[in-house]
Amino acid sequence: MNSKALRKKFLDFFAKRGHTVVPSSSLIPTDSTVLFTTAGMQQFIPFLSGKVKPPHPKACSCQKCFRTDDIDEVGDKFHHTFFEMLGNWSFGDYFKEGAIEFALEFLIKECRIPKERLCFTIFKGEERLPRDVQSLKIWQKQGIPKEKIWEFGTKENLWGPVGKTGPCGPCSEIHYDQTLTPCKRGKNCGPNCDCERFVEIWNLVFMEYNKNGKGEYESLAQKNIDTGIGFERLTAVLQEKDSDYETDLFLPLLEKIEEFSGKKYKDFVKEFRIISDHTRGAVFLIAEGIFPSNLERGYVLRRVLRRAIRYGKTLNLPENFLIPLTQKVIEIYRDIYPEIKSKETDILTVLQKEEEKFEKTLERGLAQFARLLKSKIILPAEGHGAKTIEGKEVFDLYQSFGFPLELTRELVREKGLEVDEKGFFEAQKKHQEISKSGAEKKFGGHDIEKIKDEESKIKMTKLHTATHLLHQALREVLGEHAKQMGSDINTERLRFDFSHSQKMSEEELRKVEALLNQKIKEDLEVKKEEMDYEEALKSGALAFFKEKYPEKVSVYSINNWSKEICAGPHVKRTGELGHFKIIKEESCQAGVRRIKAILE
Ligand code: ALA
Repeated sequence: MNSKALRKKFLDFFAKRGHTVVPSSSLIPTDSTVLFTTAGMQQFIPFLSGKVKPPHPKACSCQKCFRTDDIDEVGDKFHHTFFEMLGNWSFGDYFKEGAIEFALEFLIKECRIPKERLCFTIFKGEERLPRDVQSLKIWQKQGIPKEKIWEFGTKENLWGPVGKTGPCGPCSEIHYDQTLTPCKRGKNCGPNCDCERFVEIWNLVFMEYNKNGKGEYESLAQKNIDTGIGFERLTAVLQEKDSDYETDLFLPLLEKIEEFSGKKYKDFVKEFRIISDHTRGAVFLIAEGIFPSNLERGYVLRRVLRRAIRYGKTLNLPENFLIPLTQKVIEIYRDIYPEIKSKETDILTVLQKEEEKFEKTLERGLAQFARLLKSKIILPAEGHGAKTIEGKEVFDLYQSFGFPLELTRELVREKGLEVDEKGFFEAQKKHQEISKSGAEKKFGGHDIEKIKDEESKIKMTKLHTATHLLHQALREVLGEHAKQMGSDINTERLRFDFSHSQKMSEEELRKVEALLNQKIKEDLEVKKEEMDYEEALKSGALAFFKEKYPEKVSVYSINNWSKEICAGPHVKRTGELGHFKIIKEESCQAGVRRIKAILE
């Protein structure tokens, strides 16, 4: 069954059973607390929560979704950034029994999946919520033997809410058994087993609670059904493919990459998958009117695009290879999502521009790499002849310039050296532990906190460096009396208080902005040195809140123009900052002015 036929079959099936077919909503949700639409139910939240009376009691859709929390998993068989979700809903109409009957009928009768290939999970009860005995009974009534019904807790089988509060409930999942052969765990090998024998294809959520601001579960006025099928996954199952990427949704892309790179998919599976996933994701984001930037959605778009380009480099794909790939994506989706067709020119233009821009960052990364080669960071490797490059440095290249390990490894090998890969993974793990704390990873989880955390850190680091530049620019434009009196940074803006007795004129503000943007354009190195506090003062570094400094301090200097004692963190080069803009200048207290500024 081709993917188009499957989409149609699903919608027809539910339409015939009294469901209104609702078009996919935008990838940009109306609820501004979340970055993207990550599930089919988002557009129905007002109906599910009972706040708005739905125009129809039952609905179904094929929804565009984008999940940033799976980005590091992309490259395996089933994870994506952009994907489609098929779903059916009941707003106070049918409940568990109806949802389970529909699901089995669709999979077994319509899709002809052999029953013995299916396994099921139910909620075992946790967090003061009861075990889902009804679902267990309903599955059994449908002829499913007990040993095929597995029980899990909150992490796997309590779904929602999207964001921190809202409708949620226990869920029951349907998993497809790919091999019918247990791994070495024998009888304990079942759904959610690490061996990946099972792939989750359908999640039935029994939405009967509202999670409130205190984290408590309140009963909703009505009992709802919210379901989601990973469309790509079901397509792979029905096309009998080992992964989503080998289905008709991705094959034309893989073929194009083979043609342009002269390399085979089977030899570079991960790279091929990442390039195709990210290109497709970027196309859908641009079609929503999102442009690459350093903020929020624009930042995500930039990130997937650059990742695609970087991986393209590791396959030696020519410049502008994204264009023919994008054309393939457009061909696959133009009849399904009209915006893909109508925005074709925008999509191609944005892609081309971003690719050109990124070439420059890549050049800077390569320059950094060259410096690295010359510096002391090369260590003699234990046990063999080649020398190694320290893992932490390789990770920094990845973080600051977007160099994947694979690219650095290739570059390093050309020089007859090796990468300390263990060190790289340690550095990456450390970074992830910091940025992922508390995030949940299951399919169906919606923790945008993780990506937000990571993005926030990057944004705040940039604003931190911008604060140093601003300080120096103010001293130049207004005079040396303009000293830092306070500073505060959040994810959106920097706030800087400084001594100055009158309102700054328009001209002064413009001068400060221009000077700062000039320093950004010059792409100056931000240098860090460790020294004694006294020595730092002697070298002319600015220091504030004297009593707080330890004996040994870090001094950050930017081209000898700005020099401050500071604990960091800072970017490596000013070119990473983007465009600096002052949004407010006001009085803070007598003799102290306050500037708020952003990076665009
Ligand atoms: N809302 C549920 C999910 O996204 C169906 O998995």
